Amino acid sequence: MSFPQHRPRRLRATPALRRLTAEVRVHPADLVLPMFVREGLTEPQPISAMPGVMHHSIDSLKAAVHEAADAGVGGIMLFGVPTTQDAVGSGAVSPDGILNAALAELTAEFGDDVVLMSDLCLDEFTDHGHCGVLDEHGGVDNDATLQIYGRMGVAQARAGARVVAPSGMMDGQVGVIRAALDEAGFTDTAILAYSAKYASAFYGPFREAVQSSLQGDRRTYQMDAANRREAVLETRLDLDEGADLVMVKPAMSYLDILRDVAEMSTVPVAAYQISGEYSMIEAAAANGWINREAAIDESVLGIKRAGADLILTYWATEVARRLKG
Ligand code: PBG
Repeated sequence: MSFPQHRPRRLRATPALRRLTAEVRVHPADLVLPMFVREGLTEPQPISAMPGVMHHSIDSLKAAVHEAADAGVGGIMLFGVPTTQDAVGSGAVSPDGILNAALAELTAEFGDDVVLMSDLCLDEFTDHGHCGVLDEHGGVDNDATLQIYGRMGVAQARAGARVVAPSGMMDGQVGVIRAALDEAGFTDTAILAYSAKYASAFYGPFREAVQSSLQGDRRTYQMDAANRREAVLETRLDLDEGADLVMVKPAMSYLDILRDVAEMSTVPVAAYQISGEYSMIEAAAANGWINREAAIDESVLGIKRAGADLILTYWATEVARRLKG
């Protein structure tokens, strides 16, 4: 009898065998491209801490959505960066606010050819930079914020968003937004809940890029990195409140959380590969320390393998093209 008896290497012998026996595959339609549209721009502006990512003008946004759609990307997630802010984030609710105006433009251009998703959060629209309105002690007022989220959801649905994505981690946000959408007749507008969104240092490049006005941090509403069980609680609450999709954010330092959520969720699960995860790989590659494309593809595959059905990544168009080609 020869030894060893079992030889798992047999199935690794050729690229064709490895392809045939791969347990997990990423498909272009799994990928969602997060995009930033900035008010008042006539030309796109590079984000220095995220090489390759742009603040878009309306025109460059449309062009980039065309590219993503041509590559087969499943959807886009739009963020708005307004020129003016106030204490209650009025620009988030106004139909003329940059996010709602851009959504309307994309709806007119693309209809239902691309799934249009919109970030539903106040931080870019408030002058203090928090995801909600403040109470008299400077704390984030959960229930007062919910009322604004409801109106923001309706404004986004009216502008054509197919999916609204509350990311502020206020308690009860999914239920209030669902009720507001239904009452306004938007029963078919879906909610992608950022169910387990952690307070993370890896948001750094993005906050620096948008010159976030935030003083302090978001630790009274975003989750603590130490907590795993709590992610299951947050997801269960969002499912009870009517979430159509749920999300874990960030992705790469939270793959265990993603696995837990994938095992208990009864709806599709998304994961967000965030700015710091993007910039780390870009920076290492720019220094010649890792193979850029291989590292990108491996990172996205790892997120899929951990249990994500949808992956939000700034590399969505690039990865989709590679998968097609
Ligand atoms: C908040 C928001 C965040 C990002 C975009 N909008 C997270 C945060 O600052 O708490 C960061 C996205 C990224 O880092 O890629 N609505």
